[in-house]
Amino acid sequence: MTLASTAGPAGTRILGLGHYRPGNVITNHDLIARGVDTDDEWIKSRVGITERRWADPDETIVDMAEQAGSKALAASGVAASEVDLVLVATCTMPTPVPSAAPALAHRLGIEAPGAYDVNSGCSGFVYALNTASAAVLTGQARNVLVVASERFSGWLDMADRSTCIILADAAGAAVVGPSDAIGLGPVVWGSDGEQAGTVTIDEDSRFFQQEGQAVYRWATGEMAPVALAACERAGVDPSEIAAFVPHQANLRIIDALARRIGLPNAIVARDIETSGNTSAATIPLALSRMVERGEIPSGAPVLLLGFGAGLAYAGQVVLAP
Ligand SMILES: CC(C)(COP(=O)(O)OP(=O)(O)OC[C@H]1O[C@@H](n2cnc3c(N)ncnc32)[C@H](O)[C@@H]1OP(=O)(O)O)[C@@H](O)C(=O)NCCC(=O)NCCS
Repeated sequence: MTLASTAGPAGTRILGLGHYRPGNVITNHDLIARGVDTDDEWIKSRVGITERRWADPDETIVDMAEQAGSKALAASGVAASEVDLVLVATCTMPTPVPSAAPALAHRLGIEAPGAYDVNSGCSGFVYALNTASAAVLTGQARNVLVVASERFSGWLDMADRSTCIILADAAGAAVVGPSDAIGLGPVVWGSDGEQAGTVTIDEDSRFFQQEGQAVYRWATGEMAPVALAACERAGVDPSEIAAFVPHQANLRIIDALARRIGLPNAIVARDIETSGNTSAATIPLALSRMVERGEIPSGAPVLLLGFGAGLAYAGQVVLAP
């Protein structure tokens, strides 16, 4: 026998974006004042960060996700009653259960959607975006709310100057819905589990840890071909890309990747300068801020490239909302 199935639209696209950054601005000088053995010039030249945001002690991942998610819904024009699936990309929940997505949906007045979290570290948003797109394309959801929300300030070893200066808190969101044209290109994703131990939250210390140089070599060496393959599968020449929004881990990685991919007409996201590294949230946060500032025209092709813990990665060309 065969089973009945549902049918969906011809394509999907991002209908609206939103973001939220907590109010506490932590400059490099603030870190020094808190006793971190570092200096402003080292952080700016080696990582590219001038300041980052940390959440209030009682501000949660769901709180930040609610802010970003409600803005994305408003920007998309999609009502809460038209959302059938809510996905939260995060790797910094304080406990394994409950997941963030059902509580987020409840806060936003989305009644009984499918709801779950996606943990793929810094590439989590792009993974969730594709899960959302697949659900709409197969007719299993009319619209999907995808939110990446991270709260690293609860997982930092302030005695480890190679990590506590980098990680930060924020949320970014997108509403994915039906479209006559294809607005989300094919994803190019993969992972290298042999290097799983290079980015971790340590089981005993509960601190974020990474082998910075190993991840740096992997990102600068392996990710440009992934980005080029994503362009090829979407049928877009790199010269047509209007904006490049990679994971914001290190400005030197971002600049090296932009050079290697060859993106002569793209504006390159440099959100790390004022937001730090917020893992899964960096891509929707940077994209939402660029769209808000009017830097990316509606309908323009944007290259997303997530990479990090896993080690997992995902590249994809999308059209700006
Ligand atoms: C983490 C990272 C910024 C560290 O930069 P780096 O240039 O590799 O730095 P190193 O760890 O080799 O340290 C170089 C020197 O700077 C020092 N240093 C490290 N952190 C410092 C800080 N915050 N302030 C001042 N000096 C610092 C080190 O002690 C070392 O000093 P030494 O040469 O006297 O021993 C970089 O490796 C990186 O961005 N890696 C990729 C991270 C990534 O993509 N992660 C993805 C998952 S989020």
